[in-house]
Amino acid sequence: MRMVDLIAKKRDGQILTTPEIQFIIDGYTDGSIPDYQMSALLMAIYLKGMTDPEIATLAKSMLDSGEKLDLSMIPGIKVDKHSTGGVGDEISIPLAPLVAAAGAKNPMISGRGLGHTGGTLDKLESIPNFNVDQTTEHFIDEVQEHGTAIVSASKDVAPADRKIYALRDVTSTVESIPLIASSIMSKKIASGTNALVLDVKTGNGAFMKNEAQAKKLAETLVAIGKQNDVPCVAFLTDMNQPLGYAIGNALEIKESIDVLKGEGPEDVTELTLVLGAEMLILAGIAKDTATAREILEAKIADGSALQAFKQLIIDQGGDPSVVDDPTKLPQALSTLDITAKEAGYVSAMQTNELGLASMKIGGGRAKKEDLVDPAVGIMLHKKIGDKIAVGEPLATLYLNAPAPQEVQDQVLNSFTISAEAPELPELIHEIVR
Ligand code: URA
Repeated sequence: MRMVDLIAKKRDGQILTTPEIQFIIDGYTDGSIPDYQMSALLMAIYLKGMTDPEIATLAKSMLDSGEKLDLSMIPGIKVDKHSTGGVGDEISIPLAPLVAAAGAKNPMISGRGLGHTGGTLDKLESIPNFNVDQTTEHFIDEVQEHGTAIVSASKDVAPADRKIYALRDVTSTVESIPLIASSIMSKKIASGTNALVLDVKTGNGAFMKNEAQAKKLAETLVAIGKQNDVPCVAFLTDMNQPLGYAIGNALEIKESIDVLKGEGPEDVTELTLVLGAEMLILAGIAKDTATAREILEAKIADGSALQAFKQLIIDQGGDPSVVDDPTKLPQALSTLDITAKEAGYVSAMQTNELGLASMKIGGGRAKKEDLVDPAVGIMLHKKIGDKIAVGEPLATLYLNAPAPQEVQDQVLNSFTISAEAPELPELIHEIVR
């Protein structure tokens, strides 16, 4: 078999067979297929798509490219959550300690920023000394003793995804149902979880901009879960504006702490509770959504969710004092307000552009080897439905270097201002089981 022939086959819209997909994944994982050929194949998949059986085979081959963690020594149903990626989407950070405080076992394997979206691992690394690279033994002990751990996939878990994920980020091949579905499900199933809650984003800040496509992605993810005996529930959630007000690594950690104190933005708090409630149901801790929410709300109110976050930070070598004093998180050298040029109501936001603007001032990567600046980012002051006057700040940039005019314009132009108050977007669009 030759990779060049398989690239041509997919380029021409043909269906790859199981041995062909296995050949590609094995060859790319062991290095015998180079990045340039894999890049061409990824673009062919992006453009021509894959059938459901091809996607199932791709996910299985990526899953089988490494070891599957055995978490059977941890009693009970292990449950995890994964988002398809959005802007200001820090949900995993308050969610993991919250469900752990409620008694769930949550082995969370997370990712880094991808395209215009941020990554949970990059955000956590803004906490001084927080280490996302833990041994499997430490990961298991942490989940067993304190209910959760948030780590990067070890080199042995779905190594094919590790390599392909980094390559997609720099080859404009992220927004593809087969590639997103196989990426998420291979690493989540390999991480040994027994059940999974999926947050599938839809809207102009999501990889799936169109709702029908987001639904197809949700159905694909849930189907792969079923094929591998991992029950999944997918929530289609709104990404037509960033979640919360913070975009940027340390800024989103601060906002996550606010959520755990019961003082977070309404949308971040609500989505954390919705996804957390489903996790408690899948874990057998609550029988229905109302009971699950009550448990979670009580864990925020009595401070145990916040305490669980401190414990998570301690377990992973970080400085837990940031929870009580968030000024210990990396701070930007300067700020710059972006002010409104017209009055009215914010009626739409170009969420994707806000994510890119944050990336350009250092909050994300344009190339694989780029370093992320934890302190920089954007704080929004206005979201859809808010009234704005001329000269009032729409957003503040947090900077460690002067912001190029192009970025300032990009942020300003991300807000549409209209005379009439708009209809507010629904946070949860649909649930796929
Ligand atoms: N999250 C992942 O893990 N993979 C993707 O491809 C997109 C979001």
